[in-house]
Amino acid sequence: MPIHWFPGHMNATRQAIRDRVKAGLDVVIELLDARLPGSSSNPLLASLTTGRAALKVLNKQDLADPLLTERWLAHYNAQPHTRAIGLDASDKSPARALIRACRELAPNRGGLDKPLRVLICGIPNVGKSTLINTFVGRRAAKTGDEPGITKTEQKIVLEDGFYLFDTPGMLWPRISIAQSGYHLAASGAIGRNAFDETEVALELILVLQRHYPERLSERYGLPNPLVPEEEVLAAIGAKRGAKVRGGDVQWHKAAEMLLTDFRAGQLGRITLETPEEMAEWRRQAAEAEAARQAAADAERAAEKLKRSGRRTSGGTGGAQAGD
Ligand code: G4P
Repeated sequence: MPIHWFPGHMNATRQAIRDRVKAGLDVVIELLDARLPGSSSNPLLASLTTGRAALKVLNKQDLADPLLTERWLAHYNAQPHTRAIGLDASDKSPARALIRACRELAPNRGGLDKPLRVLICGIPNVGKSTLINTFVGRRAAKTGDEPGITKTEQKIVLEDGFYLFDTPGMLWPRISIAQSGYHLAASGAIGRNAFDETEVALELILVLQRHYPERLSERYGLPNPLVPEEEVLAAIGAKRGAKVRGGDVQWHKAAEMLLTDFRAGQLGRITLETPEEMAEWRRQAAEAEAARQAAADAERAAEKLKRSGRRTSGGTGGAQAGD
């Protein structure tokens, strides 16, 4: 799906993360959307923070399928130097959960002489501000900049010897997995003008038909939710008055209704992807990228050959002229 995204502050954010790594970093907390953990994970972040322990926080777990959240947590917890926990805004002490997990990941750090330095990152709308506000609003203290570190970095002292660094701006990668683009758009992570809502709604219907067909029936009173996705969207539109005189469906309006329902949890707790599906999509994307790369290389090689052929025949002509 073509997503028109804007690099925005990406370079500044990238530099800020590099600066933090250089200044000292023990654990990277990545806030993921529990409804799409794989798609909301940022590959650029991993490459910028190689070698640092990772805490994956599956946020908004109140909106996600609890069984799939368990599977995603197990998936991440099986990775080296990685812990994963679920969280949502109803949690009364998120700081305690984060501190405990980070201390497990970096047991040799702590105290004022060896503070535990933690970076928190996440794609837009994942709930980072909401979470940070719970820290800043309570006992955590907001402090000024450290020398040598970008002015925009925010340091939050969660407790003595535990520093949480927040880097504003976003690190928005090129989305190479089509399915991830749809899931990100459906979740609300991508600005609404950057994608086609009808296309995203139709893809969401396909996912719901695969994993949660009964939710479509329950919410929209569809006798058979497994008809072609356009028919499902048309039925949603008809139910909710998204039709114009003459009976034509207002596709855009119907799509908006479905997406709003999904984002607000009106369809129940839903997770759009499994670790296995994500691994398969990544494999396919890597394969497609390798094929694209090979085709580009072959084209470059052919072009070079053509150029050198032209030069050779040009040279022969010159020799003849000199004879
Ligand atoms: P960001 O800084 O990562 O961009 O996200 P932010 O905290 O602004 O949160 C984005 C939206 O997600 C907000 O809703 C927020 O209330 C909601 N949210 C955050 N954490 C959770 C959670 O654990 N569960 C659920 N269900 N929602 C969460 P909004 O509609 O954009 O704003 P508002 O109406 O809450 O003001």
